Amino acid sequence: MRGLGTVLALCILVGISTVAGTIAFGRATLPGQPAAARTTPGNRDATEDYGKRLIAQTTEYLGPDVADPKMRFMDSRLACASCHIGAGLEPGSLSLATAITRYPRISPRSATNETIQDRINGCMMRSMNGRALAENSREMVAMVAYLRFLASQDAETGASQKKVHEPAAFKTPNRAADLKNGSLVFEQRCAACHGPDGAGLPAARELVQGFVFPPLWGPNSFNDGAGMHRVLTAAKFVKAKMPLGNADLTDDQAFDVSAYLNSRPRPHKEGLEQDFPDRAKKPIDTGYGPYADPFSVEQHTFGPFAPIEAFYKNAKKPAK
Ligand code: HEC
Ligand code: HEC
Repeated sequence: MRGLGTVLALCILVGISTVAGTIAFGRATLPGQPAAARTTPGNRDATEDYGKRLIAQTTEYLGPDVADPKMRFMDSRLACASCHIGAGLEPGSLSLATAITRYPRISPRSATNETIQDRINGCMMRSMNGRALAENSREMVAMVAYLRFLASQDAETGASQKKVHEPAAFKTPNRAADLKNGSLVFEQRCAACHGPDGAGLPAARELVQGFVFPPLWGPNSFNDGAGMHRVLTAAKFVKAKMPLGNADLTDDQAFDVSAYLNSRPRPHKEGLEQDFPDRAKKPIDTGYGPYADPFSVEQHTFGPFAPIEAFYKNAKKPAK
């Protein structure tokens, strides 16, 4: 419900400011407020609090418009919280509540032992279309401290409060995605917030404050190496969380609209062919080769996925 409340508040604000003939409303009305105005129920310390602000209002600290050129670590104008809703606090799809407990671990994408810092930098370089932060930088230390705080808070939270309020998990339709239907779903269910051209709605004239409704494609969005650029990953998130506050799409609608987003132009990441050195571990919806199977880039991008799944299932059967 937190998401819905935020959106309603934002919609009212957007409404008011549009009537006033401007969308330049003040800082204090933005979703992430100055630290002083936010009470700290779980008693975050200053470092954890900085970590939370970095995740909630990323453009203000690391975006392409910050005053200090040395701090411009990303080219997108997304926040981590554009995908990790509620600064990662919200349960369910892409929650960060227990993320830190899963690291270090072996990453199939890089085939190396991945630390939580590496994982954050994965999102910096792909989801944020940016550059890696140094492991001992103030910003990385703060984000990791905040994730550790989230996990300790989660450990103290009762099961009823962790309950996920999401529709049934996404099930992949057994067909190729229909881009035409996807564009229709986009117009009817997404464009009101994300804009008719998917470019989002900036928070203010000052781009450094980021976007109230984040861009889904174009130069300010994630690049083509991001997890959200995989259709099934996007569809899982979209079905669980979008339209924000009213997630009611069918599997077919979530699949088609995610494919439509995927088909729109966005920044390109160099060197993607080096991802997943063990090609058999590449997620089946990765829209770039090389692959350990005979299916086309087109089929890996838009499906049908069942034949690809079947191929790997058979490959895994022990030889007689
Ligand atoms: C465009 C959407 C998007 C943005 C923006 C984004 N992420 Fe992510 N993030 C993802 C996706 C998708 C995954 C991977 C989920 C999967 O692999 O199934 C992920 C995974 C993660 C994980 C690992 C979670 C786990 O449980 O293993 C961490 C930590 C993380 N992101 C942190 C960040 C941080 C910090 C930022 C900002 C610097 C950020 N992300 C920005 C989409 C995003
Ligand atoms: C009521 C406004 C609203 C509607 C309608 C809406 N979204 Fe969103 N969407 C948001 C907001 C706000 C965020 C960022 C999360 C946050 O700030 O809590 C977001 C985030 C996203 C993201 C991740 C960030 C990014 O920029 O890529 C995707 C993908 C997305 N929405 C897809 C969709 C799709 C697809 C639809 C239509 C089915 C849709 N949204 C409808 C408000 C909306």
